[in-house]
Amino acid sequence: MIFSIIFFGFTLLLSLLQSASAAPLRYRRSKMLNRRTTYTLKDTYAGDTFFDDWDFFTDTDPTEGLVDYQSKEDATSKGLARVENGVAIIAVDSNSTLPSGTNRASVRISTKNTYNGGLFIYDVPFMPVGCGTWPAIWSTATQNWPNNGEIDMIEGVHESTQNQITMHTNAGCSLATGQAITGTVSGTTCESSGSNNNGCPTMDTTKNSWGSDFNTAGGGVFAKLWDDTGIKIWHFSRDNIPADITSKSPDPSTWGNPVSFLPSGDSCNVSDHFKDHTLIINITLCGQWAGATFSCGGTCQSAVMDPSNFVDAQWKINSIMVYQPS
Ligand SMILES: *[C@@H]1O[C@H](CO)[C@@H](O)[C@H](O)[C@H]1NC(C)=O
Ligand SMILES: *[C@@H]1O[C@H](CO)[C@@H](O)[C@H](O)[C@H]1NC(C)=O
Ligand SMILES: *[C@@H]1O[C@H](CO)[C@@H](O)[C@H](O)[C@H]1NC(C)=O
Repeated sequence: MIFSIIFFGFTLLLSLLQSASAAPLRYRRSKMLNRRTTYTLKDTYAGDTFFDDWDFFTDTDPTEGLVDYQSKEDATSKGLARVENGVAIIAVDSNSTLPSGTNRASVRISTKNTYNGGLFIYDVPFMPVGCGTWPAIWSTATQNWPNNGEIDMIEGVHESTQNQITMHTNAGCSLATGQAITGTVSGTTCESSGSNNNGCPTMDTTKNSWGSDFNTAGGGVFAKLWDDTGIKIWHFSRDNIPADITSKSPDPSTWGNPVSFLPSGDSCNVSDHFKDHTLIINITLCGQWAGATFSCGGTCQSAVMDPSNFVDAQWKINSIMVYQPS
C-alpha cells in the first residue's frame, strides 16, 4: 500500500516534469505534422423528416421571378415538396396551364438552423432543368443583406452549361486570385448592392457540374468548407464521390483542389463578412437573370404558361449533412 502510494507519487512527479518540458514540444510537432481536422456530424436533412426543419418563404421573389412561392401546406398538398423513396423533391408546378401574366407555383425553403461555419455536404441526384428555370442552392442571413454575406454554391439558368459559384458581401471583401482551384474566377469584387449584384463568381467549367449533363451523370455531391481559412467549394460527380464522404468521415484535406476558394485574409476577412447563414434551396423562373438570357423561343413569360416546360424543374436531394470540426 505505502509502496504503491510512493510509486504513484513518483510517477505523478515524473509526468509533471515531462509535461513541463518534452510534452509541449511534442504537441507543437504533432500539430504541425498532422493537419487533419476531424469532423463530427451535427445536422442531417434527409429522408422522411427532410422538410421538418425548414421554413417556407412565401413573399414575392426579390429577383422578379415569375413564381408564386408556396406555403408548407400548399407545397405539400400540391406535391411540390415531398419525399419519394427517401429522396426529397422540391419542384415547380408542372401540371397547371396558366393564363398569361400568372406566376407559376414554386418552392423556396431555408433551414431553421443558422450557421457560422462548418462543412456542408449536399448529395444531389438531380437538379432542375427546363426553359426559364433559375435554380439555386445557397446561403445567407435572414436580415441585413449583404452585410452578413451570401454564398451561392450552385446557381445558374437553364441556358447555362456551367455552375456559377458566387459570394456577395458588403464593402471590403475581394476575391484574392492565384489560389489553387479548378474553376475560373470571373469577378473579384464581392461587394454587392441592389444595383450591382454580380458578386465575385467562379465558374465550374467541368461538363458534369450543371444542368442535363449533371443529371445524366446521376448528379453528385457538392461540399462547402467554411472556416477561418475561408470558403472552399468542391463538386464531385456521382462516380467520383470520395469514400470518406460516403462513410461519413469526411477529410477535405484529401479531396484535391476545390473548384472555388475565397481565402480569408487581408483582402477579405471571411468571419467578418459571413455570419448567421441559413441554407436555402429555391427555383425561380425568368426574373433578372433567367428572363434576360431566355433562349427557348418566344418570351420567358409565355414559357411559364406551359406546364410541359417544367416536368424536370425539380431538385432531388438525397441528404444534406452539416459537420463541425471536432
Ligand atoms: C431564388 O433564387 C435566385 C437564384 O436562383 C436568387 O438570386 C434569388 O434571390 C432567389 N429568390 C428568392 C426569393 O428566393
Ligand atoms: C400533378 O398531378 C398529378 C396527378 O393529379 C399529381 O400526382 C402530381 O403530384 C402533380 N404534380 C405536381 C408537380 O404538381
Ligand atoms: C478577422 O477579423 C477578426 C476581428 O474581427 C480577427 O480576430 C481575425 O484574426 C481576422 N482574420 C483574418 C484572417 O484576418
